[in-house]
Amino acid sequence: MDDDLPHNQQPTDPPFPNPNQSHSFRFRPSAIHFSSILILLLAISFFSFSKTDFFKTHSLKLTHLLKNSNQTPFPNPFCVLWMAPFVSGGGYSSEAWSYILALHDHITNPGFRLAIQQHGDLESINFWEGLPDSIRNLAIELHRTKCRMNETVVICHSEPGAWNPPLFETLPCPPGAYQNFKSVIGRTMFETDRVSQEHVNRCNRMDYVWVPSEFHVSTFVKSGVDPSKIVKVVQPIDVNFFDPLKYKPFSLESVGTLVLGAKNLEVSLEKKGFVFLSIFKWEFRKGWDLLLEAYLREFCKKDGVGLFLLTNPYHTDSDFGNKILDFVENSDLQMPLSGWAPVYVVDIHIPQTDLPRVYKAADAFVLPSRGEGWGRPLVEAMAMSLPVIATNWSGQTEFLTDENSYPLPVERMSEVKEGPFEGHLWAEPSISKLQVLMREVTTNVDEAKAKGRRAREDMVSRFSPDIVADIVHSQIQNIFHEKR
Ligand SMILES: *[C@@H]1O[C@H](CO)[C@@H](O)[C@H](O)[C@H]1NC(C)=O
Ligand SMILES: *[C@@H]1O[C@H](CO)[C@@H](O)[C@H](O)[C@H]1NC(C)=O
Repeated sequence: MDDDLPHNQQPTDPPFPNPNQSHSFRFRPSAIHFSSILILLLAISFFSFSKTDFFKTHSLKLTHLLKNSNQTPFPNPFCVLWMAPFVSGGGYSSEAWSYILALHDHITNPGFRLAIQQHGDLESINFWEGLPDSIRNLAIELHRTKCRMNETVVICHSEPGAWNPPLFETLPCPPGAYQNFKSVIGRTMFETDRVSQEHVNRCNRMDYVWVPSEFHVSTFVKSGVDPSKIVKVVQPIDVNFFDPLKYKPFSLESVGTLVLGAKNLEVSLEKKGFVFLSIFKWEFRKGWDLLLEAYLREFCKKDGVGLFLLTNPYHTDSDFGNKILDFVENSDLQMPLSGWAPVYVVDIHIPQTDLPRVYKAADAFVLPSRGEGWGRPLVEAMAMSLPVIATNWSGQTEFLTDENSYPLPVERMSEVKEGPFEGHLWAEPSISKLQVLMREVTTNVDEAKAKGRRAREDMVSRFSPDIVADIVHSQIQNIFHEKR
């Protein structure tokens, strides 16, 4: 999850790889305003959705729905309009779904009606098709909710550049003047040590800014966001979906491309080999270079380990095999006598419904990222009882502890070298400590398993959908009942 702000107007942190995202994610300035692919997808996927319905819905924009519905009496006038990249995939997308499902499933008398709207990124057909039917049905239902602006709390769940007026093509959030709504909340996060002035200004235009962690409370305040507007609202993780008892392992070897080392018989013979898993979008921030260096320095073929990188492109082509070989060639890494420990790349699209089985196939999860908004794959892995090795900095410090994981010490801070956030700082985790921790999970298996169990317990007790639904619900209730 990501998460998890883009360096270029794009949410990052996919919950799983999507080979088509490099195309579908790219912003096309010529794209029409408020493209309704969501509605198109809905129409394609459900035959009950007649052609007339499609045209009727298509021609109505949300703001019109809001303005024209004044006469209609609603049993409950209050609305929460959640606007997020619901059909895009990526960190914000899965985060937004986790809130919607939490509220929908766990709050019986919310005191408001829930509406959703696609916003903040382009739609991905692959992602939509990978969603379970129940979620797609819910999307259709919530997309049809009609609300009056003055009785609606809008949640803009995206990077601040998408907020009204958006800096790129997207349905503005809020979809009208800020003061026309009951209240407007920005839900966002960031993965460097600060927030840019432009984003600070946009945050301060909101009535509230919800961030997921203490890390963000502190970096946002330090950057100039009005402290009275900032509320920490943690992220839910679906601990019933990500439950290790419910799944059989996915065959990673059958979908992975071996890019370095020899196929390791011991890895393919279940149980015997030790499988490291990492899931990330291919960008420098994720520290894939650090991971490869630590793994290849520490292990060799006879260790009987395997590293599986589940990745997809981020402003790059998808030739990951050659990127890895180039990286190794340009480094001072020496091939061990027994040969390289194997590295596999999995870059096919894995549907959301198969994701728990992917974690189930691993013995440990590792992500030496330079900065994360939240680190959605980390909490997914932890809910799946995996021992997790991850950088002890940024959003994930909200949940990483010595008891439930292996927090990876930071060696120093480094400057972001490219993109709009050049000059910000983020963390360089220690490669030598990463080697030590990776070795430790393979040798001290009992400790690793105990941390994995504790990880799941912590996810259940702190971030279960019912618990987070209560947090969000009470925040929203306060807003409806406050005087403005
Ligand atoms: C919102 O506006 C409608 C129509 O103008 C009005 O009937 C209603 O009372 C307003 N609601 C609130 C909460 O002010
Ligand atoms: C992680 O960071 C926190 C805060 O800087 C620190 O107190 C803690 O000791 C660190 N843990 C590890 C294992 O480095």
